[in-house]
Amino acid sequence: MSANTSETIEQLKHAPETTGVEDLIRRRWSPRIFSDQEVSSEELTRLFEAARWAASSSNEQPWRFIVGRRGDETYKKIFDSLVEFNQMWVKTAPVLMVSIAKKTFTSNGSPNRYAMHDVGAASATLALQATADGLHIHSMGGFDQEQVRASFAIPSDYEIGAAIALGYFGNPDDLHERMRKNEVAPRERKPLEALVFSEWEKPAKL
Ligand SMILES: Cc1cc2nc3c(=O)[nH]c(=O)nc-3n(C[C@H](O)[C@H](O)[C@H](O)COP(=O)(O)O)c2cc1C
Repeated sequence: MSANTSETIEQLKHAPETTGVEDLIRRRWSPRIFSDQEVSSEELTRLFEAARWAASSSNEQPWRFIVGRRGDETYKKIFDSLVEFNQMWVKTAPVLMVSIAKKTFTSNGSPNRYAMHDVGAASATLALQATADGLHIHSMGGFDQEQVRASFAIPSDYEIGAAIALGYFGNPDDLHERMRKNEVAPRERKPLEALVFSEWEKPAKL
């Protein structure tokens, strides 16, 4: 695939300019093919720095991340926990992570019902920093949570979030046909009326 094709697909994947939304947000999307380019430790550090600055209930910062690079034991353990479909495409990703939420407040041990909400916020912040740096992440729910818990000895007061692949966009021609179609299709979203209400399921007049 030429650099041209890669650029064309990138453009196709961006949310429409007509939304008026910030360029960085429009450019985030989740690829299923990554290039050979490694992610430097400076880049990795910057992504987790970005995640660290997300908002959280009582500033608990309940997010934890386990991160592995291709070839290391951490990567292998995360990879092994993925369902077959995800293993098929994720093998090109140079970095694999798992997000984790601390379910209790550190100050008093009471339940933190916002823990996973805040892990989501940190992950979204990380995703936007990745986009700004020319990288992409792809989150995955298709993995065996208990396998991850056991293989990393994660305590019971922590909840496993998502597995996350990270890297630079690769060549979609290398993908299995079933996935390639999706990789070159425009992204879709529900209309605002289905999401933003003034009364339950009554679209808000914005
Ligand atoms: C929590 C979560 C779980 C996901 N699980 C999977 C998965 O197991 N496998 C997969 O290929 N994509 C998975 N995705 C990716 C979504 O399908 C993708 O984000 C969605 O189609 C929107 O596309 P976009 O991220 O390019 O905007 C997941 C995304 C999230 C946020």
